[in-house]
Amino acid sequence: MPVDIQSPSLCIGIVGTGAMGRGIAQIAAQAGIRVLLFDALHGAATSARETVIATLGKLAEKGKISAEALAAASAKLEVVPKLDAMASAQVVVEAIVENLDVKKALFQQLEDIIAADCILATNTSSLSVTSIAAACKRPERVGGFHFFNPVPLMKIVEVIDGLVTAPWVSEALLALGRRMGHTAVGARDTPGFIVNHAGRGFVTEALRVLGESVAEFHEIDRIMREAAGFRMGPFELLDLTGLDVSQPVMESIYNQYYQEPRYRPSAIAAQRLAGGLLGRKTGRGFYAYANGTAAAMP
Ligand code: NAI
Repeated sequence: MPVDIQSPSLCIGIVGTGAMGRGIAQIAAQAGIRVLLFDALHGAATSARETVIATLGKLAEKGKISAEALAAASAKLEVVPKLDAMASAQVVVEAIVENLDVKKALFQQLEDIIAADCILATNTSSLSVTSIAAACKRPERVGGFHFFNPVPLMKIVEVIDGLVTAPWVSEALLALGRRMGHTAVGARDTPGFIVNHAGRGFVTEALRVLGESVAEFHEIDRIMREAAGFRMGPFELLDLTGLDVSQPVMESIYNQYYQEPRYRPSAIAAQRLAGGLLGRKTGRGFYAYANGTAAAMP
């Protein structure tokens, strides 16, 4: 394998330091991996680094990690002002906006910067890894590395093989996921991979149940938790993810399956997205969030 994932000097780059990028940065730094943070938005990478260090600080206060572990992980996080710095990375993980053309353009730019054996990984939740790779001169070194939000708590990652991803690339990403303390599961590149495909029914059908006025959304949540054994109900999940993230995923999977009716996105979700009721991140979604409590919205 050209990249030694277990090396103490392993360095990864993270491009896009929003909700996902900073979560990936945290678990990488905690695993002793040097992390280069880059974001196109001025100040975003610095703020991500500060947020991760504050999160680690809270873990240290609660005694969940030692003061030494806090210092060691913090020292691994490095903000870089230019994408050119990714030349030092053995793996670059992209966690930017979920837009195929923007991701393709970034990968093309990265290919001119990175080392010959560097792996290019995408955290896309719904786009085709094969399509992103097709924009590259060396598509075989591109793979999917799909984490879940919040990354430090959701200890699983899907490693996705595009049509031409080289086996050493998927093996390296599986090993990297494990080194970061996550369970790594391999998947073929198909719309939604495993979770966003198999989980479609959970959310899409619940929106249909709501649309058909079968029950109120909080009652649907309650019964899915208490009778069906899910950790959270579908509307609680939508609020946690944010409709700005989940609605485009629903639309993307529907379109990639040539408008197959069972994946049809919901007008209820589309309207709420248009109205800015995104979920926890805006303080209002299906539920209203204030002072750590959630109340059902009309
Ligand atoms: P976010 O909006 O929180 O963060 C994206 C960051 O990327 C922003 O800081 C933005 O300034 C930066 N950015 C945008 N275009 C850029 C570019 N061309 N170059 C450099 N930086 C750029 O988004 P989030 O939620 O972290 O999602 C990132 C990716 O992860 C998306 O592909 C999304 O589909 C995927 N994902 C999101 C999940 C979620 O629940 N939020 C779960 C799993 C995957």
